[in-house]
Amino acid sequence: MKTQKNAPIGVFDSGLGGISVLRELKALMPREQFLYFGDDQNAPYGVRTEEEVLTLTRSGVNRLFDNGCKAVVLACNTATAAAVVALRTEMPDQIIIGAEPAIKPALKDGHNRIGVLATETTLASRRFANLVETVGEGAEIIPIPAPGLVELIEERIWSGPVLEAFLAKLLLKPLSKGVDALVLGCTHYPFVGETIRKVSNNLPLYDGNHGIALQTQRLLAAKDWLTDSEQGGVTFLRYGQDAGFFDLAQQLLANSWEE
Ligand code: DGL
Repeated sequence: MKTQKNAPIGVFDSGLGGISVLRELKALMPREQFLYFGDDQNAPYGVRTEEEVLTLTRSGVNRLFDNGCKAVVLACNTATAAAVVALRTEMPDQIIIGAEPAIKPALKDGHNRIGVLATETTLASRRFANLVETVGEGAEIIPIPAPGLVELIEERIWSGPVLEAFLAKLLLKPLSKGVDALVLGCTHYPFVGETIRKVSNNLPLYDGNHGIALQTQRLLAAKDWLTDSEQGGVTFLRYGQDAGFFDLAQQLLANSWEE
């Protein structure tokens, strides 16, 4: 295999959510080139069957590798839940990094009634059930499916009364159960982290984005595939998205939202 050092790192999501991961990747590895593909045409993934999500993810990941990527980050919990095991089996020589709800860091900080906000497909997956099993009896994990939240975020509703009312309704029951931390188990949700914090009376929030970036760096370093170039950058793969998608993506990437 030819040297991969200066090939781009692919970043895949159903839409804009993966930008929250891309920001962490860029911050950790500023000299790398990134190729982002948001499958906006088929979003949201979180209401689709695992089989559909696997098919869509496979085609997105193949597209990124066909464009010369040295690794692909599934910057999407739903795509990871449905596809990461199958894709790693199908492509054993490729580096494929997945996302998972950051329950472990929340446990590590001593929380024991942890609400996990994620898509319905993620929460219904075998992979999520396995993750919860590893927690054992030490803590209570409360799944909070959030249908409609990805759509609001993709419609650029990142704060304000509509979002607050939506979240207040969603979190009413978990908050009444005494949840002591919230895991943002979908890469879209960090964009509305500030409002989630406000509505939940400042509960600590966890997302797995920094962990994904670290894992990506580790796997590339192990192959000696980290770039030796001085200048990094981001390119967007254009495939079916409308023009507004790229404006929003640039805006989110440029740090116009609060964590
Ligand atoms: N960003 C995806 C995730 O992390 C959102 C899935 C969707 O499109 O519904 O799960």
